[in-house]
Amino acid sequence: MLPSLTAEEADHCAAVTEFIRQHIAAASGWLSFERFMELALYAPGLGYYSAGSSKIGAAGDFVTAPEVSDLFSQCLARQCAGVLRTCGRGEILELGAGTGRMAATLLTALAESDALPERYAILEVSADLAARQRERLAQLPAALRARVVWLTHLPERPLEGLILANEVADALPCRRFLLAGGAVHELGVALTADGGFGEAHVAADAALTRMCRELCAPWPQPHPDPYMSEVCPRLEPWIATLAATLKRGALLLFDYGLPRAQYYHPQRTHGTLRCHFRQRVHDDPYARVGLQDITAWVDFTRVAEAATAADLSVAGFATQAAFLLATGIEELVAREPAGSGSHARLAGEARRLIMPGEMGEAFKVMALTRAWDTPLQGFTVQDLRRSL
Ligand SMILES: C[S@@+](CC[C@H](N)C(=O)[O-])C[C@H]1O[C@@H](n2cnc3c(N)ncnc32)[C@H](O)[C@@H]1O
Repeated sequence: MLPSLTAEEADHCAAVTEFIRQHIAAASGWLSFERFMELALYAPGLGYYSAGSSKIGAAGDFVTAPEVSDLFSQCLARQCAGVLRTCGRGEILELGAGTGRMAATLLTALAESDALPERYAILEVSADLAARQRERLAQLPAALRARVVWLTHLPERPLEGLILANEVADALPCRRFLLAGGAVHELGVALTADGGFGEAHVAADAALTRMCRELCAPWPQPHPDPYMSEVCPRLEPWIATLAATLKRGALLLFDYGLPRAQYYHPQRTHGTLRCHFRQRVHDDPYARVGLQDITAWVDFTRVAEAATAADLSVAGFATQAAFLLATGIEELVAREPAGSGSHARLAGEARRLIMPGEMGEAFKVMALTRAWDTPLQGFTVQDLRRSL
């Protein structure tokens, strides 16, 4: 059972539901899941990321790595410092900066190691989260605060330095498909008799059919019938625009995800779609509409293909655990006196970030580079590129 709603939340959910209902009616009764997800997350003033629920952090719906512990961003800062020094300063562009905690910790750590970027730009689609980021980053010392700018679109002049995105790719709306009876269907949403949302599928168009047959090859065998999963065609244009923004340096993508062979493994019969509401994880995207996050894992093979097509090099692919170990998480914990409360707290946070049953294995990091031949510190412990 999901936690119940306050009267205000119920009103908001009803407003988002009505808004999507109108879109379903205007689309002759069936809306693709991709469009549903886009409206539920990003409809102006209504969608989950556009409206004011607390979302990220212990009081919200889910906790991301930078919110679990500043150790994550302190390790990332070491990787960033190396790239920025090689660039002779350069800049950082962070996509989807959430509460701003990662930006605050990164800037503080980079200042301590005398490797501040000339500029720290944030591109955030959520006005609500951008306001929270401004509030948080206003607390930084003036010399750091002055480097932060918010962008409304990607910079026209390509940058030298880093582009960072933690848990952004999994928030891109995806298409859902069903392989059944020897055919490919696209999942979407229609209205039920009582006006609610019900899952409904239609015959897949040629593009989706071709994609599914390639992704799930050999299909129909050995994939079970029925078999359901997701694909995110928005990844290619997203990576292409980011590639066009990078003149020299690295794009680091952290996210839940898998290489393609594991993503579309025959045993993963219900795909990777997950919803997050007040720290509960479930798989019903039609519940709590506008009040819950909806995500799908990232097919990192697709990211690598998109990057190669956009003339970027896939310079590294590793688990979050391997990246954090390579950038010195153990040493950061060991700086606190053994037996102290702060050591115990940091050790607990580090375990959550690196243990396989927690965030260590499910989260991966991929480095995509341009005009770069210096090894990246975060990928010196593990190289999973052959799994792609
Ligand atoms: C799951 S949250 C992660 C927030 C933060 N990076 C963290 O780790 O705590 C997803 C973030 O991506 C933002 N977002 C979603 N789509 C985006 C896009 N296309 N460009 C930039 N930000 C986006 C959301 O508004 C939100 O800030």
